[in-house]
Amino acid sequence: MSETAKIILDGKEYELPVITGTENEKAIDISNLRSMSGYITLDTGYKNTGATTSAITFLDGEKGILHYRGYSIEELAEKASFTEVAYLLLDGELPTQKQLEDFNNEIKIHTLVNEDLQNIFKSFPTGSHPMGQLISMMSALSAYYPKSLDPNRSDEQKRRTMLRLIAKMPTLCAMIYKKRTGHPFIYPNNKLDYVSNFLNMTFKHVSDEYEVDPVYVDAMNKLLILHADHEQNCSASTVRLVGSSHASLYASIAAGVAALWGPLHGGANQQVLEMLEQIKADGGDVAKFINKAKDKNDPFRLMGFGHRVYKNFDPRAKIIKKACDDVLNKLGINDPILEIAKKLEEVALKDSYFVERKLYPNVDFYSGIIYRAMGFPTDMFTVMFALGRLPGWIAQWKEMTKEGQPIGRPRQIYTGNNLRPFVEINKR
Ligand code: SDX
Repeated sequence: MSETAKIILDGKEYELPVITGTENEKAIDISNLRSMSGYITLDTGYKNTGATTSAITFLDGEKGILHYRGYSIEELAEKASFTEVAYLLLDGELPTQKQLEDFNNEIKIHTLVNEDLQNIFKSFPTGSHPMGQLISMMSALSAYYPKSLDPNRSDEQKRRTMLRLIAKMPTLCAMIYKKRTGHPFIYPNNKLDYVSNFLNMTFKHVSDEYEVDPVYVDAMNKLLILHADHEQNCSASTVRLVGSSHASLYASIAAGVAALWGPLHGGANQQVLEMLEQIKADGGDVAKFINKAKDKNDPFRLMGFGHRVYKNFDPRAKIIKKACDDVLNKLGINDPILEIAKKLEEVALKDSYFVERKLYPNVDFYSGIIYRAMGFPTDMFTVMFALGRLPGWIAQWKEMTKEGQPIGRPRQIYTGNNLRPFVEINKR
């Protein structure tokens, strides 16, 4: 006997189906509510509304649980490589050794970007924000692959576009970094693995040899895995919504990058570092900034704290915090910013304002400290988030298109003027 929910509207009882997920999450299916009753539901910010079913990522905000395709984020971060996790997100199963080798080789075929894209970089003002550049480059890629403009052209074309994006994103992210420094671009080196190739394109100087540090490679793999997907977050929902209009995958990903840029979302990792630097410059008085964050009249917020879903520790933050200690110790870096972050966390987690609101450190709170230790400038942090999140966005888009979901088009409740006659301008 399937479960149902009953509601009474204008004295009439309606029975709606209840659906249960594989982790026993429950939802009232309101797909037919309006046709049955004329009513819609209202949930600004979608805090209680599911947009889709999905088999990609499961998270439990109360318990601080995160699984990709059923595998725990703790195990994946510890034991897998980033392209292995990308394969898992896209295809639903962990690859065999041969499948992973083939996948890595398929990616290597597409690591180069068209030389003409360098001209676009020349048009960006020096110092322009890397995320603005990345949005443009994601969209610009579609200009070179006109067959990709029809996302439903063929499965083979879809897969090629997915591989091109995964292969070219590191190349473009490294070019964005080189644009900042004014140094020549470094071409992909397909003898290197995915992460090592990205670090080489980023940090190698055209006139010098460059040895990729295994500490960086391990930290980078971990960080990219931890950012790879997070179910229906703001940017993934944006990718799905844009993709539901049958715009190209490049356009959908460009939209996802744009959504991620916001300081309440992926842009928070840049804001966290700037906040920690502000606290350090102000003398390190953590209590002063905790009070500012609590003051409703003060716009200051504790960036990297709080989460729409996690009302317990963000499991990614725990892993990144430990990786922070490991990486800085291995690199022999004693970063006072890390000490300020730890002090901030310690004081906040004892403060009733944060405890009552279940505000814990999220994925963005510690990630920037590692990026900085590796040499990335603060305004590149969200680009790194996008590099990690790309396979998740693609997996969400692939699932949505495979299911043939309809164009996303939410309803509203109108609160404007009722019908009124036009008034000639000389009578207003
Ligand atoms: C990411 O969704 C995802 O999955 C996102 C992400 C992913 O992997 O894709 O996990 C990545 O975006 C992480 C979040 C990064 N953003 C930040 O760190 C920015 C700082 N955090 C906040 O802006 C906030 O916590 C949000 C945006 C993350 C969540 O906001 P909600 O769910 O809309 O909650 P809210 O703003 O309504 O806050 C509830 C209360 C409010 O106080 P009251 O009105 O109840 O008195 O908590 C307060 C807020 O003022 N609050 C904070 C706070 N976050 C919430 N107060 C001080 N500092 C904060 N950081």
